[in-house]
Amino acid sequence: MDRKVFTVAIIGCGSRGAEAYGRIMAEEKEKFSVVSLCDTDGEKLKKYGELFGVSEADRFLSEKAFFSRRRADALVIATMDNDHVRQCERALELGYDILLEKPITGREEECRQLLEAHKKYGGKVVVCHVLRYAPAYVKVKEILDSKTCGELVMIDSVEQVCYWHQAHSFVRGNWRNSKLSSPMILQKCCHDFDLLQYYAGSRCDTLSSIGDLKHFRRECQPKGAADRCTECPYVHSCTYSAENIYIGNWKDVGSPANCWPYNVLTTEYPLTEENIRRAIETGPYGRCVYACDNDVVDHQIVTMRFCNGVKANLRMTAFTAGGGRIMKFYCTEGQIDMDEGQNVLSVRRFNKPEEKMDTASLIEGGHNHGGGDNGLIEEFYRVLCGEEDAPTRLEDSIESHLMAIRAEESRLAGGELMKVHRG
Ligand SMILES: NC(=O)c1ccc[n+]([C@@H]2O[C@H](COP(=O)([O-])OP(=O)(O)OC[C@H]3O[C@@H](n4cnc5c(N)ncnc54)[C@H](O)[C@@H]3O)[C@@H](O)[C@H]2O)c1
Repeated sequence: MDRKVFTVAIIGCGSRGAEAYGRIMAEEKEKFSVVSLCDTDGEKLKKYGELFGVSEADRFLSEKAFFSRRRADALVIATMDNDHVRQCERALELGYDILLEKPITGREEECRQLLEAHKKYGGKVVVCHVLRYAPAYVKVKEILDSKTCGELVMIDSVEQVCYWHQAHSFVRGNWRNSKLSSPMILQKCCHDFDLLQYYAGSRCDTLSSIGDLKHFRRECQPKGAADRCTECPYVHSCTYSAENIYIGNWKDVGSPANCWPYNVLTTEYPLTEENIRRAIETGPYGRCVYACDNDVVDHQIVTMRFCNGVKANLRMTAFTAGGGRIMKFYCTEGQIDMDEGQNVLSVRRFNKPEEKMDTASLIEGGHNHGGGDNGLIEEFYRVLCGEEDAPTRLEDSIESHLMAIRAEESRLAGGELMKVHRG
């Protein structure tokens, strides 16, 4: 066991790299020291460089310069989806241990390519399937493994994206267009697939999927609407108005100085009504949701059969009032229900009284992703120390990505049944 302070570099200093992981690591001074940053956005480099105490000489605008040599013990890769494989390969070659954001890639051949590079260079790679480190999700696995409800037969899972989160990330934001980032079933649901195969205790054998983009299209734009919310006659009445989502909701949650998703709009700190308003007047998050260059779905269903006979159903929908997953596990001797948004986990053994748990009470430390962000960073530290192997190693995490890739292939083929592993 080698417990020490590990030096860390971060490439991609956005919402995940700097705001989530960087901040946690900067607070855990006895475990991590953030020593180098790379981002193509100079304002972010300055903001997080100052916040984490990284010298100007160790801040890089250019990926090429950053990767000219190794700069720390470990590297966080939290750039956009299409950059991960290229950067991870180079980082492995330089000898880094890596915390890699999901999705790893949306291309099957790149999954293999990265596994080859990993085999060649070694190094530890932990993929950010944060929910695997969230106490409520871990608890579900413990209950399933205890067999208190008998054998698992079927899982019914709903990914409630939430109407404003869909508008923010998948209509106006980074993941709106599958060619610029990745298909929504991969981007949003590789976590769900990872959880489903973990709970099923088996690889997925076959799946099929249907889904569409129903609502966030030009033909659904109300008559006379403008292409920017602040210039639109429906600015106060439209459900998806940027004014309502960013200024209204931000006030409703107590006008925090720093909080997702509002801190995605601007690098200015603290958040104020003025800087949020400036961002929606001029930036991408003030665009009409019916007039964006989005093409990803707003609802999709995947039906799965696992090699051990367990069946599962995943329904992803934008059209929910709140976020979080609802998962129901049907077993031979009872039923387990989890509602992430409501912090409820219930075990109903047949003919026995219901046992209810408040899952919020299981969380220690930060609550982001149900405690998963903090849990992941703790696990990454243990992996760096050589104390254990993470449950979301690169080779294990590829499985969920293959499931998502096949689900998208099936959707595009009109719901055709797909074998997840071929050959
Ligand atoms: N684990 C999770 O639950 C979770 C949640 C949300 C997002 N993500 C994933 O995390 C990744 C980052 O998402 P985000 O929300 O932080 O996005 P973001 O836009 O806030 O951050 C990405 C950052 O990368 C920078 N960047 C882009 N190209 C670069 C390059 N070539 N070199 C260096 N920096 C570059 C951008 O300037 C930006 O600051 C994405 O792949 C996303 O899918 C994971």
